[in-house]
Amino acid sequence: MLVAVTGGCGFIGSNFIRHVLKERPAWHIVNVDALTYAGNFGNLADIPKSPRYQFLKGDIGDLKFVSSLSKRLDRKLDAIVNFAAESHVDRSVLGPGAFVRTNITGTFNLLEVARQAPGIRFLQISTDEVYGSLGDTGKFAETTPLAPSSPYSASKASADLLVHAYYHTFGVDAVITRCSNNYGPYQFPEKLIPLMILNARSGKELPVYGTGRNVRDWIHVEDHCRGIVAALERGKSGEIYNFGGNSERANIGIVEHIAERVSGTRTLIRFVKDRPGHDWRYAMDADKAALELGWEPDIAFDEGIDRTIEWYLANEVWWRPILTGEYQRFYEQWYGGR
Ligand code: NAD
Ligand code: TYD
Repeated sequence: MLVAVTGGCGFIGSNFIRHVLKERPAWHIVNVDALTYAGNFGNLADIPKSPRYQFLKGDIGDLKFVSSLSKRLDRKLDAIVNFAAESHVDRSVLGPGAFVRTNITGTFNLLEVARQAPGIRFLQISTDEVYGSLGDTGKFAETTPLAPSSPYSASKASADLLVHAYYHTFGVDAVITRCSNNYGPYQFPEKLIPLMILNARSGKELPVYGTGRNVRDWIHVEDHCRGIVAALERGKSGEIYNFGGNSERANIGIVEHIAERVSGTRTLIRFVKDRPGHDWRYAMDADKAALELGWEPDIAFDEGIDRTIEWYLANEVWWRPILTGEYQRFYEQWYGGR
């Protein structure tokens, strides 16, 4: 089985490749990645050289490149798992264009490959954010109407609709998974958890948006990767599967925990101007994945967060080069004067 993993040099994609090379010895992986600011060879530096793994640099937004994909491979493609995306909500506020190009046009280009070469299973890695925002109660189910509120989530919802249309109209063997907030090793330090760990480590302020009472459901990336394998192997064509971590937490609680653990004090915490359009709460009902895929999350948040903190503190060689040029410019543009 040959699986094309797009965005395999990013956070979840690299964890997925590591997981599959270990857990599915018969699978071969071709990692297709444009190596944007978020894509990093360092995320896969520890995987052994293997005939089961190859890398192809390429942009899913470039139809010419995507159309030539099959010709560049020495065997028939069995599946595409599409992780490639612009993934940070705050950057989608600063510049939505790249989100439309990669997340919508890029998904369309890959669907065209699947349409033209029947027999390819297409797995779209989507997010709980396509459902919009919850109040203090309730959970998102797969049947919850789409109501995205950021340019990021709108672009992901658009991609989901295209995937659905390609299943219905052209019979593409497509499955969509929607997951809650991931955390774990190799996450780019623009996202809440690694940003707070690294800021606390270097004595920088910890910027909490608004009141800090917004709630996310956190899932360890390894649990998500197991779910993706399950959906690829057992997911029903045309279906959507929610994955969640059963770990709802208010942002401020997470930041306080990290602050105390890393710097021994909460004094670095600063409440800053809220993110525009900030979704209040996400929570997932993942009963369908439990019932139909036999999948459930394993890693308790309180254990996973401390493992993640330890990982970042022990892996300065990974994050030090990332906290330079581009990251500094983004940080200044977004947080400067907040
Ligand atoms: P990430 O930003 O860490 O990685 C994205 C990867 O895609 C990078 O390697 C980047 O180089 C690559 N990429 C970007 N544009 C590309 C293009 N045009 N062509 C080819 N490659 C390109 O993202 P992540 O957090 O690993 O998220 C992966 C996927 O999972 C995304 O589709 C995201 O929407 C989805 N998702 C993420 C979360 C989360 O909490 N991080 C939760 C649910 C769903
Ligand atoms: P983030 O990791 O960007 O994920 P998402 O917006 O996709 O849920 O943010 C998680 C939560 O943390 C979200 O409610 C926004 C908040 N947040 C802060 O309060 N400060 C920050 O510096 C960041 C990056 C996020």
